[in-house]
Amino acid sequence: MKTNKWIAAVALCAVAINGAVSAETIIRIDAAAPRTPVSPGMYGIFYEEINHAGEGGLYAEMVQNRDFEMNQLPEGASWAGNLLKTPQGWQERKWFSNELHGWTLIRSEGARGAIKQDSAKPLNERNPHSMRLTAREAGKRLGVANGGFWGMNFQAGKWYDLSFYARTESGEKFDLTASLESAIGHESYATAVIKDVGGDWKQYRCALQPKTTDHNGRLAIAIARPGVIWFDVVSLFPRDTFKNRPNGLRADLAQTLADLKPAFVRFPGGAIVGGMMLSNRIQWKNSIGDIAQRKGTANLWGYYTSNGLGYHEYLQLCEDIGASALWVCNPGSSDNYRRAEYAKPEEIPAYVQEALDALEYALGPADSKWGAQRAANGHPAPFPLKYIEIGNEASSRQYQDNYKLFYKAIRPKYPDVVIICNQRIKGGAPVEMVDDHKYGAPDSFFAAHTQYDNADRSGPKVYVGEYGCNRGAGEGNLMAALSEAAYLLGLERNADVVKMVSYAPLFFNVNDIAWPVNMIGFDNHRMAPRSSYYVQKIFSLNRPDETLKTSVESEAGADKPEIFALAGVDKKAGKIVLKVVNRAREPRAVSIQISGAAKIGERAKVTTLGNDDPTVENTVDEPEIVVPAGSEFSGAGEKFTYTFKPHSLTVLRLSLSNS
Ligand code: AHR
Repeated sequence: MKTNKWIAAVALCAVAINGAVSAETIIRIDAAAPRTPVSPGMYGIFYEEINHAGEGGLYAEMVQNRDFEMNQLPEGASWAGNLLKTPQGWQERKWFSNELHGWTLIRSEGARGAIKQDSAKPLNERNPHSMRLTAREAGKRLGVANGGFWGMNFQAGKWYDLSFYARTESGEKFDLTASLESAIGHESYATAVIKDVGGDWKQYRCALQPKTTDHNGRLAIAIARPGVIWFDVVSLFPRDTFKNRPNGLRADLAQTLADLKPAFVRFPGGAIVGGMMLSNRIQWKNSIGDIAQRKGTANLWGYYTSNGLGYHEYLQLCEDIGASALWVCNPGSSDNYRRAEYAKPEEIPAYVQEALDALEYALGPADSKWGAQRAANGHPAPFPLKYIEIGNEASSRQYQDNYKLFYKAIRPKYPDVVIICNQRIKGGAPVEMVDDHKYGAPDSFFAAHTQYDNADRSGPKVYVGEYGCNRGAGEGNLMAALSEAAYLLGLERNADVVKMVSYAPLFFNVNDIAWPVNMIGFDNHRMAPRSSYYVQKIFSLNRPDETLKTSVESEAGADKPEIFALAGVDKKAGKIVLKVVNRAREPRAVSIQISGAAKIGERAKVTTLGNDDPTVENTVDEPEIVVPAGSEFSGAGEKFTYTFKPHSLTVLRLSLSNS
């Protein structure tokens, strides 16, 4: 039996001190009792392309539908009216308005012309469609425009790099004018002329520096005289990407991830690993190399994904933020909750090989087949991949059979890679680590703080791969985050079993939300980490090396616990790290009693996340309603009283003079 039980039998008097309900609650910390090491892999990130997390989000590409492939159906799917239909009968909403979604024709004062999606003379077989611009009368201005993802964000004085492929018939050449401009083109912020565009497919580039900031701009490319020209892979990037990587990530969003100091990043999901059907699953080989050679696809979260933020960019992100990579492979089936399609037994070896090839791409020597591809893509050294998960939320009998084949192929080749399973399978291949998911209402998270107290200690280690309080929690309010904090205390307390955890989903673009509650909201120039983000960050930055036996004794009569606590030791810093959740609406004066540690210094550093109103939420308009506040406390010792704010998570870092 674990500590931190709700001990309702301890009846002590309640006395009001400064409006706080007084020290009838005791947190006892026994530093001499056996300790449990906490896994350094504990707090990580779950990334999935959902809610435009990447496309129109973390991936800094500003052009929407750059490859003109947006309206393509995944192989084997068909249209049922306005819905995509899989052979298994799953239906998905149509994700584009027309075949040139994102693009418009610019025609002013006497200009006449048309744009059309075209499949003649494709750029390559992975990009079979292009956009044909037919200019009949150039008028004052004729061209094409792209408004990006809910407007383009231009910052005055920053550089933006434009590249595109173009071709013409019979070698005809045109001068084109590229502009960064206001939403309907009334104001121009930067222009560049690209001369002699024409002949066979060729890539053209130019750089633009807007003189004005506009969060709702567009890119325009105009032609000066009548003629016909084809475009493909039209791309616009801010030069200031995270760590200045080409084909890189939005710096502000990536920095927010780095600030979590995550132990790992899981990728690519989530349900997207399976896809709506097997042809729509994530296929990592479509997501590496030159962006003109990548193959995009419709996404089961209702939009198109270019695969621009692909396997390589993900591995690079892990390296850039000092995190291990946790890559999820397809297990030979599409998503469990979308009428799964199962590969035939004789097809499974190809899926196993797909996973082995991905491991070789990340970890293999630069002269191996896939290691050489990695080197050709600019990274000769291996990437920090440490985990592979076989599938996501798969629960079928077929999965159990397939898992064994994956395990048997991967384990001997990659003895140091941790293999994660979706189920607690008995027999066949071992399950070293299992991925549990938890979503629900605040009460269920508070209740689940004891979930692993009685877990089978001889069973697999646990990775809580997805958790998120997403019911009865607004769009992600403080109470939701506090219930998650109580839950995380329970995971940390069971550190001998629970080794890793990640919140899900990570991001949402406020303009297109597919999942009700997520961790970090953004639009094209702002962001708002929710209180759940700050909870995860506080836990990550205050992960102890070992837990200490901690119990909470509280007053009789209350029907559910309101104070949740766990202490641990940060050995290097010489601190006892005490994390406490107060879910009550009033401040709580709590007696903290520490035994078994030689001496506790008087001064402690304090971090508090809280608010009198538990329903408050951060938004992109008001991103700092709930943020952690730092302070100092000078009344600490082996026995002291601390008043915890209403609706709060508090971390006390207590100095140990002798641990
Ligand atoms: O996190 C959102 C979704 O929830 C994931 O894609 C899936 O694994 C889970 O059901």
